[in-house]
Amino acid sequence: MTEFTIVAKASEIPPGERKRIELNGERVSIFNIDGEYFAIYDTCPHKKTAPLIRGMLNGVGVKCPNHGYRFDLKTGKCDRGERWNTKIFPVKVEDDNILLGPPIPCEN
Ligand code: FES
Repeated sequence: MTEFTIVAKASEIPPGERKRIELNGERVSIFNIDGEYFAIYDTCPHKKTAPLIRGMLNGVGVKCPNHGYRFDLKTGKCDRGERWNTKIFPVKVEDDNILLGPPIPCEN
């Protein structure tokens, strides 16, 4: 059974907002796009330092603030090649709680 963990309150991330949380020692960025939540590993895999929480949204994707690589928030896929693909986290909302499941590596 997949285990989900409460990581934030839905009310603190309204549409258009984002929040970085920590789950099992990993930084994760949660984005609310038009009322739908997406969670992605926060550290850009390109140089392994840039925080995607500071990236610009691009459709259902985020562009790294450093060099602009885009990561799909539904899959973790990078637009510059699969070696940069990252992982996403399944999101559930229960009452006002946002819960994340274990990371899902990008299938490519
Ligand atoms: S560090 Fe993110 S694209 Fe280069």
